[in-house]
Amino acid sequence: MHDSGKSRHRCVILGCGGHGRVVLDILTNTGELEVVGFVDSNSEMHGRRIDGIEVLGAPSDLPRLCRELNVSRAIVAVGDNGARRALADQVETMGFELINAIHPSAGLARNVTLGRNIVIAAGALVCAHCQIGDSVILNTGCLVDHESLIGTATHICPGARLAGRVTVESGAFVGIGATIIQSTRVGFEAVIGAGAVVIEDVPPMSTVVGVPAKPIKRIGKTADMHAWLIPERAPRRIPPPAVDIPLSAKAP
Ligand SMILES: CC(C)(COP(=O)(O)OP(=O)(O)OC[C@H]1O[C@@H](n2cnc3c(N)ncnc32)[C@H](O)[C@@H]1OP(=O)(O)O)[C@@H](O)C(=O)NCCC(=O)NCCS
Repeated sequence: MHDSGKSRHRCVILGCGGHGRVVLDILTNTGELEVVGFVDSNSEMHGRRIDGIEVLGAPSDLPRLCRELNVSRAIVAVGDNGARRALADQVETMGFELINAIHPSAGLARNVTLGRNIVIAAGALVCAHCQIGDSVILNTGCLVDHESLIGTATHICPGARLAGRVTVESGAFVGIGATIIQSTRVGFEAVIGAGAVVIEDVPPMSTVVGVPAKPIKRIGKTADMHAWLIPERAPRRIPPPAVDIPLSAKAP
């Protein structure tokens, strides 16, 4: 806990659901920042308190809250990968500095690189030379082994274990207790089911489950309307041409 009398930077947490409460707990444990409140689009929560911290208003109230409460830092604590990324972009455009929440019991190698708006929960381990992108959640007790690349707005759920040199592309979801062997790639917005054991690359936007993991569907549940709003990803979603190109066709 924070024990010095010096003034701390003030921040707000976007999202007062389960993940928001975890983030409040982490920030309270580190004590480095003063949480002045939550903001949440659910108006039924406005004015309520969670663990003593008030839900101050909606994300659209942030510019006013920034002026009135002298707060310039924020963290987006929304579980949905696409929504978290989109909100982080909006908050940054408003001029807020996005902060990370790293539990004191998490273990990070010295040479791990971190983006912004990252949550690393209690007991998570991140080993040498890993790169963790913006808006990533490394949830309770997960393991990310050496030289792994964890892409923007991904969620590595509690107890998931990633061996060395794993790549998780943006928007992917690695379910609770899943295991991914070394040097494999999880495609963008793919979903790895709870307890799955991934032994080969996972195609983008597919869902895989089981031991060893096998696909059950293309276009996972994480594909949502927010993803359509992200320009750099939109072209990938353009439907294939109506005329099939024969698989045997040679490139010119
Ligand atoms: C993989 C997952 C996303 C699939 O959800 P879904 O799209 O709603 O799929 P369904 O529940 O319709 O299941 C489809 C089939 O896959 C099977 N299945 C689903 N999840 C499975 C899993 N984790 N392992 C093995 N089989 C699974 C179902 O039994 C079903 O099989 P059937 O067609 O033979 O009946 C979900 O089951 C899952 O594992 N989510 C992870 C949850 C998690 O980690 N939460 C932590 C949050 S911090």
